[in-house]
Amino acid sequence: MTSQNSPFSKRFSHTKLFDSPTPIQRLNRLERELETNVRLYVKRDDLMGLGGGGNKLRKLEFLLGDAISQGSDTFITVGGLQSNHARLSAAAAAHIGMTCELVLTEVVPRSDEAYRRNGNILLDEIFGAKIHLLSGTENALDFATDRAKVLKSEGRRPYLVGSGGSSPVGCLGYANCAVEIMEQEQEIEGGFTQIIVPNGSSGTHAGLAAGFVSVGMDPARISSYAVLHQAKETQLSTYELARATLAFLDSTKSVYSDAIHVSDDQLGGGYGIPTSAMLDAVRIMARTQGLLLDPVYTGKAFAGVLAAVRSRAYKPNDAVLFLMTGGLPGLFAYQPAFEEASYK
Ligand SMILES: Cc1ncc(COP(=O)(O)O)c(C=O)c1O
Repeated sequence: MTSQNSPFSKRFSHTKLFDSPTPIQRLNRLERELETNVRLYVKRDDLMGLGGGGNKLRKLEFLLGDAISQGSDTFITVGGLQSNHARLSAAAAAHIGMTCELVLTEVVPRSDEAYRRNGNILLDEIFGAKIHLLSGTENALDFATDRAKVLKSEGRRPYLVGSGGSSPVGCLGYANCAVEIMEQEQEIEGGFTQIIVPNGSSGTHAGLAAGFVSVGMDPARISSYAVLHQAKETQLSTYELARATLAFLDSTKSVYSDAIHVSDDQLGGGYGIPTSAMLDAVRIMARTQGLLLDPVYTGKAFAGVLAAVRSRAYKPNDAVLFLMTGGLPGLFAYQPAFEEASYK
């Protein structure tokens, strides 16, 4: 199955932004380095051809599909200064010939040159997006709503998307991904015992959970590591979003709150604040496998996988799938953090 011929893309407006299915690969060298008999796999959602790739393209396939079906000509969205969602919105809008406006807030306490000018924000400008920069205390969604009204009064047709593209429409992208994983795991002996994802605005976890439930599979295999808010709040928003996505799908099936597992063990000092476990995870993945995690999402979530392997929280022969959601440009924005950290 590809994301283009899945049950959900047939029912809802959708525009193709990447080739699917994304590959699943085993981390053999890392397993040997960790001396574990847990089988570790990654699903390469970072491996997409458009705009540097990443999880937001799955959501944008449906969000932009919806925007096109409504005749919109301007895509407006919000995010932090180094938002991957903003960068991929800019790239995807450019790809389909739509104007893009980004309302970015300074939510992370970093003022160095790399953070302010490199990484995603550099790419936003290169992709031709119009950037509105707000301080961390301003409300980006209010600003974006007002901006949409101004654009309308000028005769344009704006389409506004909230943080991380995590609406039920956006979540369809990860409901699709759940079906993709279900098909791919037929090749994996015993199937995946755990599926691990980062959790920011919750759409990735919620979409996967809704997708699994809608095809009669257990969503409790999925666990996420919160990188934005604490576990309780993230668990609740994930659960509510999974329910809203199922309702949007007109599914008669329901998701139970206890099936949504969220940990904040890797959150550290908060969103976008580096931890030594993240720096270690980025380096070990790069040095054993030649693969790049990012400092804000996958680095922290994969640090959770490493901690679980090291503390023997998984059982021997478990098959753990980690969703690599992208975010590579963030490494350049966090150059000082990597330089400052002492490492061997
Ligand atoms: C690279 C990357 N991974 C994971 C996430 C988290 O996804 P979600 O917001 O759907 O929880 C994001 C969100 O911005 C992201 O950019």
